[in-house]
Formats: sequence, C-alpha cells, structure tokens
Amino acid sequence: MNVNREQVRSFWNANPVAAAQNPHPLGSREYFAFFDRLRESIECPRFAERIHEFSLFQGKKVLDVGSGNGYVLSRYAQHGADVYGVDVTAAAVNLCRKRFAYMELTGSFQEADAESLPFADDFFDCVCSMGVLHHVPDTVRAVAEIHRVLKPYGRLILMMYHRDSALYRLKYPLLGLWTGKSVRQLLNEYDGAGNPKGAVYSKRELAGLLSRFQNLEFQVGFLEGHMLLPKLGRFVPRTIMRPLVGRWGFNLYANARKRAFAVSCRRLDPLRRSA
Ligand SMILES: C[S@@+](CC[C@H](N)C(=O)[O-])C[C@H]1O[C@@H](n2cnc3c(N)ncnc32)[C@H](O)[C@@H]1O
Repeated sequence: MNVNREQVRSFWNANPVAAAQNPHPLGSREYFAFFDRLRESIECPRFAERIHEFSLFQGKKVLDVGSGNGYVLSRYAQHGADVYGVDVTAAAVNLCRKRFAYMELTGSFQEADAESLPFADDFFDCVCSMGVLHHVPDTVRAVAEIHRVLKPYGRLILMMYHRDSALYRLKYPLLGLWTGKSVRQLLNEYDGAGNPKGAVYSKRELAGLLSRFQNLEFQVGFLEGHMLLPKLGRFVPRTIMRPLVGRWGFNLYANARKRAFAVSCRRLDPLRRSA
C-alpha cells in the first residue's frame, strides 16, 4: 500500500490523539486530565506498569517514538528517566512541552519522523512506541531506526493493532457487509475519518518484523463491549469481557531486547563497511 508521508503528517497534525473525544480546549490542564482518564480506562496504571516497568529506567535514557501528548513519557520522567520524545507533528510536540511544564517535569521533544530518527547509534536504554508504527508509511524502516538507536540489550516496548482481535476478525467484516466499506477503510477510520494508514499485526507477523530482537514477549489488551456493539455494548460488564481480552483484544504489546551482539553484526555488514 502506497501511503503519502505528508498525508500522514497532516492527518495527525489536525487530529492529535483522542482530541475528537476531548471536550476541553487543546492543551489546557483539563484537556490532559480528561485524556489521562480516558487512557487509564483503556490501560489501567497497573497494566501500564507491567508493560513499561517504569522504575527500571530511573537515570536511563528513554525515547518515545510518536510521543503524542506525552502521557507515557511523563510516567517515565516521574520515575527519574532521562526522556526524549519525537513525533511527526508540531501539534504533538507542543502538547508534550505543555504537559511537561504543567507537571514540572523535564524532557526533550522534537519533530521527527520515525523513519529517520535524529539520534546517534546505540544511544537509548529503552525505546517505546505505543500505537504509532502501524501508521508509519514504511514500518520496516522505522523498526530498523529504533534498532539502530537502541543500545545492545536495550529494551523495546511496542503497541500495534492486533490482527487476531474481535474488532478486526469479527466486527469489521460484518460491518463491511452492512456499510459497503472495506475492512481496510474501517480500520483506518478507527483513528478518525481521513486517517491514511492503519495496519494490524498477528503475533507471528510482529515476530517477523522484530526478528533482529531477542527475548520477545507478547501481551494482548483492550476489549470492551462498546467496541463491538456501540450502543448495547456499553451495558456489557467488564467482568464478562475480561476472560476474552487476552485472546481477542485490539492492542498487541511486544516487549523485546536488542541482541547484545548486534554491534559486531553491523560491523560485518558489507554495505556498512564499504560506506
Ligand atoms: C495514536 S497516536 C499515539 C500517541 C502516543 N504514542 C500515545 O500512546 O498516546 C499516534 C501518534 O503517532 C504520530 N506519528 C504518526 N506517524 C508518525 C511518524 N512517521 N513518525 C513519528 N510519529 C508519527 C502521530 O502524530 C501521533 O501523535
């Protein structure tokens, strides 16, 4: 699928993450408080702690690729990490700076594309990218960039949309029959009408994408009644959905490490040697 980079940037510039659901002025204290409540209803703090292990990175360098409004990075900063955020939009970078100012935290933010990260090789102890790489035109290139900037044995934490989810396998094909829209179109619209690219990964596909990493572990999260049945689904108690989340959830989390011997592998790369 050919996706235009400028279209991706302008979509996210006009539609910062979850801004459409947020009734408060963009960048106000209330805006961030509303976003955080919404985020924590999807990923409760205990689950986020399990995925990110924030306290392990005290005094370490952490990069968030596609940092959105800085929610995740602020949690690392609160635990004493040295944090860096890049996002392809000026809107997101401004929101990160505002959030950090309100929270009296320090962090470094800049506009940059995941496919070309403005950092030296082997720089970060941890790189996370939550709900971003499935929107990037060349995801393989973005993963190669993340690999490059991670230190050997550095930690990678990703969230991608899950191919084997109830939303993708069940709801979208049925909704497609009903509305005449393709499953791809419905998937793109998950993040808002006009989103040029959304993609889904099975565990196997994501393992293939991350083949240069080791110690790969997956978790699946986020399945609520309203995702499947907009009106009635709101009345389905979470306790009913809970046993299904780990199999049918829409968020596929991956946790891995850069191989410790990756540096010597790169030295053996004939393209690099002749460059
Ligand atoms: C769904 S939001 C997720 C934001 C944040 N990671 C979070 O967890 O709240 C996707 C973000 O990725 C950013 N993005 C999209 N394409 C990008 C790219 N090529 N490089 C860097 N950021 C990108 C968007 O601007 C947006 O802020």
